[in-house]
Amino acid sequence: MMYTLLNHKDNTLIHELLLDADVHPLRLSSTIDSFSDPLCFLSDTGLTYKLLADTGYSCVQDWLAHINEWLRKLETPSGSHPRTERVLYALYNRFKERLIVKLNNARKSVHAFPERGEILTFTSSISHCLMLEYTLERTAPRISHLAVIENPKSIYDVWATIPTLTSNRHGLLKRLLVSGHKIIYYRDTLVYVDRRSESRVFGPSIDTLLMSEALMSYVEVTAPPNKRCDVLEIGCGSGLATAVLLRSTIECRRALLIDIEPEAILCTYKNLKLNGLVQSSRDLSRLSLLLGSFEPAEMCQSFDIVICNPPYVPYAPTRSVSTSDGLRMRAIAGLELITDLLLNLTPILTTNGVAVIIVNGATIDSLLQVFEALREDGFELTFLLGEDGLEVQFDLDEINSDQVWLSWLMDKGWVYERANILFHSIQAIAVRRLVQ
Ligand SMILES: C[S@@+](CC[C@H](N)C(=O)[O-])C[C@H]1O[C@@H](n2cnc3c(N)ncnc32)[C@H](O)[C@@H]1O
Repeated sequence: MMYTLLNHKDNTLIHELLLDADVHPLRLSSTIDSFSDPLCFLSDTGLTYKLLADTGYSCVQDWLAHINEWLRKLETPSGSHPRTERVLYALYNRFKERLIVKLNNARKSVHAFPERGEILTFTSSISHCLMLEYTLERTAPRISHLAVIENPKSIYDVWATIPTLTSNRHGLLKRLLVSGHKIIYYRDTLVYVDRRSESRVFGPSIDTLLMSEALMSYVEVTAPPNKRCDVLEIGCGSGLATAVLLRSTIECRRALLIDIEPEAILCTYKNLKLNGLVQSSRDLSRLSLLLGSFEPAEMCQSFDIVICNPPYVPYAPTRSVSTSDGLRMRAIAGLELITDLLLNLTPILTTNGVAVIIVNGATIDSLLQVFEALREDGFELTFLLGEDGLEVQFDLDEINSDQVWLSWLMDKGWVYERANILFHSIQAIAVRRLVQ
């Protein structure tokens, strides 16, 4: 490797570039130390075009699509390379090193974590998904790129991936899709779901990531400095959202994570552990995992941050909750949990506390009245994914295979089809309890 760490000169260069780009110099050290991948750094500092200028690639997408050849070029000893390229290379290496540390930790702490496999990494406000291949051989752990997808609309955005793959990579993509291992890396947090033994764990899905990103962008700006927050996640699934929050700069005093699905609670524990979040007695005393249904009346404290990616697909009038519906269906359908949460926000949220909840077009419509009542009670609502929300794939197989239900959702315009793919729009909402 040529440059594994940023040396003094590179730091100086970044400093100059940041000054040029009108980024406050005070942000320099915290930016460099806090970024977990080069893309976050590029987009956060607005330096994309400056740093890419000498690479010959026009944009991040183009650079990433050719990253293997670019790395090969930089790794040949001949000739010197422009400083901008060296900085980019150093940033990229730091990303790789961090990922390898996480994968090695996972191998040590998780039984049967695969020594080699494929991993999906999401960067820069989920604007890029990198599909990577890794091997953790003791002497030389390796990471290499399979594909890059811009603005992924699903966690495995296969349709967007295929055109970007050279033919010898199709087999690798196939391997990723049929693999029982779902490994996601995002904001320097690694989440692993073994789909063979944890098939009842929901996600991480594209909703999980978009909610987490919306949550982090919102709370990092709005959280009062030096406040130690109490956090509640309702329906934690794989644990990704809380793990990312706990690894951020937000100070967390206590976190309570609830799920009705036993596999989800075990999977969350595993993921908190592999991210180093349950190491000390202090960690253990601040984290509680609760198996059971969320019951607002049983909450004996209020929280500064509440996170919830609830089931949000309404049942069609012809279809209601049935006792034969497994927990998996209860993870995606029915509005009971979200209604219960919204109606009980006053005791659950501290004053100035915020709940970040993800919903889709169908849910927003039916919850508007509840939102209006909340406004009158001193709550402020903010849409975090723009006015219209974001379009993502509607890939809930349990619903898609129910023709009557799906037709009802499509007739309402909540789900629509384009080029044989189903889409819907999702929205993340921040509900803040204002100071009274
Ligand atoms: C849409 S999934 C979200 C999972 C995870 N937070 C994510 O974003 O990937 C909803 C989760 O809520 C859980 N759940 C559903 N109803 C619940 C309830 N009444 N109380 C607690 N958890 C519930 C499900 O088991 C599932 O894990």
